[in-house]
Amino acid sequence: MCTCLHWTPPPLQIPKPTNNILRNRSAIKANVVGIEDEDGDRNIRWNLRGKTALVTGGTRGIGHATVEELAGFGARVHTCSRNEPELHKCLSDWENKGFQVTGSVCDVSSPLLREKLMDNVSSAFDGNLNILINNAGFNIRKPMVEFTREEFSKLMATNFESVFHISQLAYPLLKMYGDGSVVFVSSVSGLVSLNAMSVQSATKGAINQLTRNLACEWAKDNIRCNAVAPWYVRTSMVEQVLENKEYLKEVFSRTPLRRLGDPKEVSATVAFLCLPASSFITGQIICIDGGMTVNGFHPTFD
Ligand SMILES: NC(=O)c1ccc[n+]([C@@H]2O[C@H](COP(=O)([O-])OP(=O)(O)OC[C@H]3O[C@@H](n4cnc5c(N)ncnc54)[C@H](OP(=O)(O)O)[C@@H]3O)[C@@H](O)[C@H]2O)c1
Repeated sequence: MCTCLHWTPPPLQIPKPTNNILRNRSAIKANVVGIEDEDGDRNIRWNLRGKTALVTGGTRGIGHATVEELAGFGARVHTCSRNEPELHKCLSDWENKGFQVTGSVCDVSSPLLREKLMDNVSSAFDGNLNILINNAGFNIRKPMVEFTREEFSKLMATNFESVFHISQLAYPLLKMYGDGSVVFVSSVSGLVSLNAMSVQSATKGAINQLTRNLACEWAKDNIRCNAVAPWYVRTSMVEQVLENKEYLKEVFSRTPLRRLGDPKEVSATVAFLCLPASSFITGQIICIDGGMTVNGFHPTFD
């Protein structure tokens, strides 16, 4: 006889916070300056004061918007890029805006420079890092069979190996404080097929699965890992391809909201994933795509 009809669920067990997490909560509160520290206080949930963040590739596009968003919520931010004059110009603009941002030149495709970057981050923040935004990346659009070995290696090294290694290097710093958030800037290309994007898609697909695995692997350290997956967002990376009006029309026809995204629409979600407000979200890939990935077969009449 089946016994499952008589089965009653055991009483709901809500795990008590460990000493480690309790200690971290006190530390989080102690770091939030000048606001009430009652549990559930809205100011605590929507605030990054006292937090430190590394955003790779912060001088343009999504990375630039993310630096400003996190700094605007009160975080101290370190960023990097390859172009020194452009980096200095950004740092001086941010200083004028009252943001606390430091930066260093780094090509994230180089293992040695990645190590140097993390040394700079460690000394800028006294060995303490709360937020890591793996944003820097680029693209080579061509059919898979036309890729040279060098092009393949460069794309893998910049888009995926760098993300893997920087996360590895950042782990001890994120773990130290016990309240970490890692956000990977992935792409819809990691979820659906896009023309001439096989290799770039493979890097983003790898990022998506790394996000899910690290979410589980690092949960014990209270480090959350999530990814954002944008569709076309107006940045320097895609301006050339979007100059083709016919192509742009096709992009709009596949996008239910009938427009491109703005870097701020990505950075807002990235910031949300770093805020205490999202403290129960981990292992998620969030599409920021105007509905593109859910648009299976929906004929357009406009
Ligand atoms: N824009 C889109 O439509 C779109 C869509 C989906 C996903 N994404 C993803 O979003 C991320 C940012 O793209 P974006 O559109 O904002 O690009 P972007 O406008 O070209 O900006 C890229 C930023 O990263 C830096 N960067 C590039 N390569 C680097 C390297 N090897 N080392 C260090 N810094 C590097 C650039 O500075 P330097 O060139 O001076 O180094 C710049 O600050 C990428 O991972 C991209 O795949 C973008």
